[in-house]
Amino acid sequence: MRSEFKPSLLALSCALALSACSQPQPQATAGSSGTDRAAAIWPQLTLPVVQDVAMEQRISAMLANMTLQQKVAQMIQPEIRDITVEDMRKYGFGSFLNGGGAFPNDNKHATPADWIALADAMYQASIDDSLDGSTIPTMWGTDAVHGHNNVIGATLFPHNIGLGAANNPALIEQIARVTAREVMVTGIDWVFAPTVAVVRDDRWGRTYEGYSEDPAIVHDYAAAIVTGLQGAADKDFLGDERVISTVKHFVGDGGTVGGDDQGDNIASEADLFRIHAQGYVGGLQAGAQSVMASFNSWQGSKIHGDKYLLTDVLKNRMGFDGFIVGDWNGHGQIPGCSNDNCPQAALAGLDIYMVPTQAWRPLYENLISQVEAGVIPLSRIDDAVRRILRVKLRAGLFDKPSPANRPLSGKTELIGSAEHRAVAREAVQQSLVLLKNNDNLLPLKPTQRILVTGEGADNIGMQSGGWTISWQGTGNTNSDFPGGSSIYAGIKQAVDAAGGKVELSGDGSYQQKPDVAVVVFGEQPYAEGNGDLDNLEYQRGNKTDLALLRKLQADGIKVVSLFISGRPLWVNPELNASDAFVAVWLPGSEGGGVADVIMAKADGSVNKDFHGKLSFSWPATPQQHANVADADYQPLLPYSFGLTYGQASTLSNSLNEQVAADNSLDALVLFERAVKPPYQLVLHSGDSSQTMDSSVAQLGNIAVRTFDNKVQEDARRLSFSGAAKVSLTSAFPADLRSYHEAGSALVVELQYSGNVPDSVLLGMNCAKNCAASINIASQLRALPDGQWHSLSVDLSCLAKQGADFSQIFTPLSVQTDGPLQLSFSDIRLVPAQAANASLRCQAE
Ligand code: BGC
Ligand code: BGC
Repeated sequence: MRSEFKPSLLALSCALALSACSQPQPQATAGSSGTDRAAAIWPQLTLPVVQDVAMEQRISAMLANMTLQQKVAQMIQPEIRDITVEDMRKYGFGSFLNGGGAFPNDNKHATPADWIALADAMYQASIDDSLDGSTIPTMWGTDAVHGHNNVIGATLFPHNIGLGAANNPALIEQIARVTAREVMVTGIDWVFAPTVAVVRDDRWGRTYEGYSEDPAIVHDYAAAIVTGLQGAADKDFLGDERVISTVKHFVGDGGTVGGDDQGDNIASEADLFRIHAQGYVGGLQAGAQSVMASFNSWQGSKIHGDKYLLTDVLKNRMGFDGFIVGDWNGHGQIPGCSNDNCPQAALAGLDIYMVPTQAWRPLYENLISQVEAGVIPLSRIDDAVRRILRVKLRAGLFDKPSPANRPLSGKTELIGSAEHRAVAREAVQQSLVLLKNNDNLLPLKPTQRILVTGEGADNIGMQSGGWTISWQGTGNTNSDFPGGSSIYAGIKQAVDAAGGKVELSGDGSYQQKPDVAVVVFGEQPYAEGNGDLDNLEYQRGNKTDLALLRKLQADGIKVVSLFISGRPLWVNPELNASDAFVAVWLPGSEGGGVADVIMAKADGSVNKDFHGKLSFSWPATPQQHANVADADYQPLLPYSFGLTYGQASTLSNSLNEQVAADNSLDALVLFERAVKPPYQLVLHSGDSSQTMDSSVAQLGNIAVRTFDNKVQEDARRLSFSGAAKVSLTSAFPADLRSYHEAGSALVVELQYSGNVPDSVLLGMNCAKNCAASINIASQLRALPDGQWHSLSVDLSCLAKQGADFSQIFTPLSVQTDGPLQLSFSDIRLVPAQAANASLRCQAE
């Protein structure tokens, strides 16, 4: 029964750091070689939430009454798409999560009431002792990484890179506080934030989740965010408007070789601490109760299995007494482990296995057997469960009413409230960095005639980036952001109020010649993995935005570029083609904050000045990875650069546009884990077509779904039941002549199963209805059924069929009369491969 777990008042007050009740933090086992080694580099931290004797006794009493099954269940964290409420009742999991783009009832438009209903059902099932006998409340963890970003209508803050530019810890604490409140409205207890990666190579697709390349900002921000989420350790700690926070991903995720996601960080131990661990120092000293282990390795060893870092360093040396949660099946990447079998992680010090997919079932069974067989000592399980229960007690989960009955639950008026949005809007204003401002073009007088154009102009999805409603942030339209504003909407409001004229144009054309053009362009949304780059050149091989800027300048129009991006990119040509240039990062739902700064008051005076300073160095070449304090530091614009109004613009108008000579044409990646921007996957059947914007899509004779080949969601399966077509298409044509000239082949990793119809046309589409295709049916049939293969087509074959490579809208389409099952996982144009292609034409 629950009542036996009621904490004493003494226990609660002791949790608030009354030294009289405290007992020493766990110390290193004397003489343990790991902890001795750690002592040379890692500090012993003074943590603000101290252990409390009565609480620890209470935990011991609970442990004494728990079965092994119940204990292991505390260590298993399944995902809402792979468990039911009945599973929760049966097993009593210690926690569960929703991954990015996972919603109650699989409904993207789930309401706050739906979120609360699921939270309450899971909670009730966990404390219901009818099946597993456990009465320990479960807890729900979610990625509220820039606001409560899985929930429609929530306030979305700028991604961390923009907050880093704002460099304002007090504002950051307020943002975290607002986030905690919106999360609490939906009955959720725990947030997987902040990310405290110190990003040293901006090719990493998670660069925008980092605040800075400099550990100092990350250290201070970690403390501010943790305090905002959890409350201060001595005041309102984990109170009714607060959530448990997670500093992630421990450790070194921002410093992998090549900026590879989930890659290897080879820093020395001293640098691992000095550069990459500063967010943990700040976060733990503010009382963070959980730490997420990272996917990456350190010097070749996967962190999920690294006992030295997890146990000796983090727990024993730094004194962390909360729990370590794993990342998404991250344990399965330890050599010798799989997602469903991995005693190594528990032995290394992992306390909670994040185990989405159905792997949780065998993992749970295996862990139990491994304890029974003595592979994992019971003492390690008891330690993990003690940590989990300690955090639950500190968070008051045993005393709080059920999620539906907590003070903020259901107060839907708080989600996206005006007060919360005002905080986000202020953050947007403070995050913008002015890189160039010839002749004080900015601020713009709102009484002028202004053209607003570019793909990002009226596009809240694009300005919000990844981790926005969906995992990768793709597939959103403005209607998915009720209450939010696009950058254009903010400009329009200012111009309308002042009596000027504003025209929105998709392609840069205009009814009447404007006085000035504001072009909003930049990166399409992406998240983990999909955002990794080979180099930092913007729109490599496909400079459609540059063409737009140049066209406007050629028309004699001054150009203001607003660059949406998750990282600094090499944009020398675009800078040259702009009279003013602002890095707006990923501002989130309050696009209006941009106009607050770039638009003057009606009388021409400054409304709000620029405040943001680069927290990342801006690269001088596509290959440069400059970080402040590097020995040979020669970025285009240094760390902490940012103009304010009235300051002279220093950037030349003729920056070097030549990419370095060693930078020969790289492969153009069209699909790698996801469709690469600007392309989208489009289904065509009969006269209709439809863009694929989630993990499944169906139109007439064609169904497409996401599935796993080597890593999560890296492949697409096309099921044709009759005549239909699937294409990778962009709204703007790309000039791919350099690929044709470089003797490239279109290379597709694919697999088919079952019959191959007589006609399977692989094609390309270009402007003015030009199209070219080739029947690959016989090549397919020559490959063994069910196995992955690489099929390559010499681009000259398509040229012979009429492809005009100067204007390609669709670099790949597959059309058949069906039925056909065809999957692909990788598509690229690879220079100098034509001669080796499966289908060759050059010699003919
Ligand atoms: C899931 C996301 C999840 C991500 C984590 C994806 O396969 O769809 O929900 O957040 O993996 O890596
Ligand atoms: C990410 C984490 C995230 C988790 C749950 C992982 O793939 O690396 O940052 O918290 O998924 O969605």
